[in-house]
Amino acid sequence: MYQPPLPQKYQELTDIQADQIISAVKDRLAERMVILGHHYQRDNVVKHAHHAGDSLELSKIAARQQKAEFIVFCGVHFMAESADILTADHQKVILPDLTAGCSMADMAEIDQVTTCWDALKSQMDHPNNLVPATYVNSTAAIKAFCGQKNGICVTSSNCRPIFEHIWDHNPQALILFLPDQHLGRNTAFNMGVPLEQMPIWDPYQKNGGLNSSQITHARVILWKGFCSVHQEFTTQQIEKARKDDPAVNIIVHPECPFEVAQKADYIGSTALIIKTITNAPASSTWAVGTEINLVNRLAEKMKKQNIKVRSLSNTPCLCETMYRIDPRHLAWLLDSLATHLDNPNENPLPNTIDVPNNIKHPARLALQRMIDITSAAEKK
Ligand code: 13P
Ligand code: SF4
Repeated sequence: MYQPPLPQKYQELTDIQADQIISAVKDRLAERMVILGHHYQRDNVVKHAHHAGDSLELSKIAARQQKAEFIVFCGVHFMAESADILTADHQKVILPDLTAGCSMADMAEIDQVTTCWDALKSQMDHPNNLVPATYVNSTAAIKAFCGQKNGICVTSSNCRPIFEHIWDHNPQALILFLPDQHLGRNTAFNMGVPLEQMPIWDPYQKNGGLNSSQITHARVILWKGFCSVHQEFTTQQIEKARKDDPAVNIIVHPECPFEVAQKADYIGSTALIIKTITNAPASSTWAVGTEINLVNRLAEKMKKQNIKVRSLSNTPCLCETMYRIDPRHLAWLLDSLATHLDNPNENPLPNTIDVPNNIKHPARLALQRMIDITSAAEKK
C-alpha cells in the first residue's frame, strides 16, 4: 500500500512534541477513540496505547469496543483489518502508516489458495474432510475464504485448542494450514502428528510439489509461508547460549523453525512468553526467540526481580514493518483525525482500513469462530 511522505512539520517533530500532540488528541477525544498497540511496537508508541496485547488479545479487545468511534491500530495491516472486521460499521479503524504490512501475510494470495483448495479436493477420497485454518497473519480475503469454507482463524496463542476442536469434531479432517508452515508444524507435531503427515504446499510448484500419496496420507497441509523475523533464529544460537550459560532458559515463538522449537526449553506465543518470564523464579536467565522490541521491554521490566532476559540472537530480530509506526506518524494521524472532526467535508479521514462487506462478513465468521472456541477452551 502507498503511504505519502509525512508533511514536513511532522517529520521534524521531536519525540516530546509528538507526545504532546498525541496526548492532546487523546484528551480531547476521550472515550471516542481507543489506541491499540501490539507488543512488538516500539516503547515510544506502545506507551500511548490504551491497550497493549498480542494478536488474540487485540482482536478480542477490538470486538468489545462499544463506545469508541475511532480505533487507532498501532500494529500491522492484517491486524487493523481484523479490527475492522470485528467492529461495527460506524466504527472507523485507522493505521498510522499504510506500509506497515506483514511479509508472511503476503505469502498466501487468494488465487493461489483457491487453486490449492480445488487441487486437494480433487485428489481426496472424502473431499468434505478438508478444513481450511488460517493464522490471523493473513489478508482479509484469506480469512473470508476460510469463513466461506466452514474453516477458522487461529493465532499463535490458540492454535492447539483449535486443531483439537477440528479433530474432535472430525478425526479424519485434513487441515489446510495457511500461511505459516512453522506454527502449523510446531503445533501439530506437539500433538503427535508425524512430520511425514504434514507435507508442504508450495504455490509455485505444480500440484504444490506434492504427489497424490502425500496428500492421501496427510493430516495437515502446510502452506509454504514463514515469518522473516522468527525464521532468523537458529539451533547454533541455542547451543551458544547454553555454552555461555548452562542455566539459561530458552523460550521461542512458534513461528520459529521446527529444529529451533525442538531444541528450546519452551515454545510460547507472545502472550505465553510474557507470562512465563513474568512468573519466572528470581535470578533466572532467559534467552528469547522473538521480536526485539518485546524482548527489550521484558528485559527492562524484569530487572527489578534480578531476572536476566536477552534475545537469543546477537543481531536484532526486528519486525521492520511494525517499526514503521513511529510517534511522528501517530501524531500526524491523530492531528488529522482532530482536523477531520472539525470539518469532515473538507478534511477526509486518512488511512482508514475499510474491508469490503463481501469479504468482511465471511471473514468475521472465521474470526468469531476462533474467539468463541478459544473462550470455551479457556473455561474448561
Ligand atoms: P502473536 O501476537 O499472535 O504472538 O503473533 C506474533 C506476530 O508475529 C505478530 O505479527
Ligand atoms: Fe509479520 Fe513476522 Fe512481522 Fe509478525 S513479526 S508482523 S509475522 S513479519
